[in-house]
Formats: sequence, structure tokens, C-alpha cells
Amino acid sequence: MNDKVLWVTGASSGIGAAVAKKFAKEGWKVAISARRIELLNVIAEDDNIYSYPLDVTNAIQLKETFNKIVNDLGKVDLCILSSGTYERKSEKEIDTNNIKNVIEVNFLGVINSVAAVESYFKNKKNGHIAIVSSPVGYRGLPKSSGYTPSKAALNNFTQGIYFDFIKFNVRVSLICPGFIKTALTDKNEFKMPFLKSPEYAADKIYDGLVRKKSFEIIFPIQIAIIYKIFQILPNKIYNYLISKFVNR
Ligand SMILES: NC(=O)c1ccc[n+]([C@@H]2O[C@H](COP(=O)([O-])OP(=O)(O)OC[C@H]3O[C@@H](n4cnc5c(N)ncnc54)[C@H](OP(=O)(O)O)[C@@H]3O)[C@@H](O)[C@H]2O)c1
Repeated sequence: MNDKVLWVTGASSGIGAAVAKKFAKEGWKVAISARRIELLNVIAEDDNIYSYPLDVTNAIQLKETFNKIVNDLGKVDLCILSSGTYERKSEKEIDTNNIKNVIEVNFLGVINSVAAVESYFKNKKNGHIAIVSSPVGYRGLPKSSGYTPSKAALNNFTQGIYFDFIKFNVRVSLICPGFIKTALTDKNEFKMPFLKSPEYAADKIYDGLVRKKSFEIIFPIQIAIIYKIFQILPNKIYNYLISKFVNR
């Protein structure tokens, strides 16, 4: 048992749920948040895990819930913001309502969460915010009119606030998982390369945040290499490769 406290959003399933269990197993006290109360309550049956339901699109509820967590558990050392949504079938055309919803949850929902913890961490001059985004946010992709742009905005936002928070001794980390088998990716009808389990993701996230203290945590290694190359390719080559191998 250590005296550290973690708050995880998007913790009712997938990566967030696995991360909550991993940190609890490592002796952290873990507050978990998402909308589906029944799922949160099942996860909170584990030792050291406590349920705090909320919707990340509700900024007031977020702030109130975060204050309650600090009150109940005494403090928060680390926040892992893992809430997110993806409707593949709605992404193939430009569906404005879908795009608004995805941006509302994936981008503005995370901003609401950061806003909820900002003054707490800056005042105590200590803390750590980790944002679960995606490597797909690094460059545009076909048939992804909402999800990829929402993650592009999030990657940029995370890198930007790194500079604003580090002055207050508050760390900011960017988590970029490759394909992880969750409800979110179960809707994909294509074979996902280098697919990994949520438990694998949780181990990598724990390692990156606690042991290696990296800014960017990107995994598995194959996805890290592919996306590092994608980031530096000239448009002509990137567009050729994506047209040939992805947009078929
Ligand atoms: N799976 C992958 O391959 C992969 C790869 C890269 C990045 N990611 C990112 O990883 C994060 C977690 O996704 P996942 O794969 O673990 O999928 P998931 O199992 O569907 O988890 C998504 C989580 O977000 C929560 N959520 C959605 N809308 C919310 C809202 N309005 N308010 C509060 N919580 C909300 C969901 O809980 P409720 O429905 O109970 O609210 C759920 O706990 C997402 O940000 C996703 O974009 C996933």
C-alpha cells in the first residue's frame, strides 16, 4: 500500500477500467468516473477503488465531483483522463451531428476535466495529468471525420498545456495507445494490426507514468515506429501510402 491517489475518467470499461484495476493492485487509492453507474459499482468491488459517476460534458458536475473526491480521499496525485467515444459507421460521411458529439466528448469533455483540476494542482504546486488521446491524431485519415480530428485537437491541447502546468510543478503526459480490444474498437470491421488487451495497455500506462515519467506514452512499439515515421513523412509520400494501403 502506498499513499497515492488516482482519479480515472472513462473508467467504466476498456482502458480506463483496466488502468483503475492496475493502479489499485499497485496499492493506489483509485476514484473512478464515467456515466454507467452499474459498471462502476462492479469495478469498485475491488479493494482501493471508489465510484464517482459523472458525465464529462457537464463541467459543473465534474468540478463538484472532483472536489468530493479530494474531500473523501484526502487528495489527488494523478488524473488519467480516458473518456472517449467513437461511432465508426457515422464517420464515413461528414455527419455534422456526429462530429459535434465526438468533439463534445473527446475534446471538450477532457478540457472540462482538466479545468476541474487546474486550480487544485496549481495551488498545491504538485500533481500529474495524463490524457488518453491517440496516435491517429497525428495526421489525417480517411473515414474518420470526427474521431481523428478530435484526437488531433487533444494531442495539440495536451502538448500546449504541458508548458502552462510545468511552471507549477504539475506534470502533463500524453497517452497514445495503438489498437486495444475494447467496446470502442469492437465496432471496427477490419483486422486491427498489433491488437492488444486493455491489461497490456494498463501495464504500459503504469510503466510510462510511474516508472519512466515520459511525456508521451505510445505503444505497442510497432505502432510507435509507424507513427513516428508518419509524423515526418512529406505529404506526397504519406498521401500515397494511405491511399494505397488504408483508403481501399
Ligand atoms: N481502444 C483503442 O484501440 C484506443 C486506441 C487509442 C485511443 N483510445 C482512447 O482510449 C480511451 C478509452 O477508450 P476505450 O477503448 O477504453 O473504449 P471504451 O471501453 O468504450 O471506454 C470509453 C469510456 O469513456 C466513457 N465515456 C464516454 N462518454 C462519456 C461521457 N460523456 N462522460 C463520461 N464518460 C464517458 C465510457 O463510460 P460511460 O459510457 O459509462 O460513460 C467508457 O468508460 C478513449 O479516449 C479512446 O479514444 C482507444
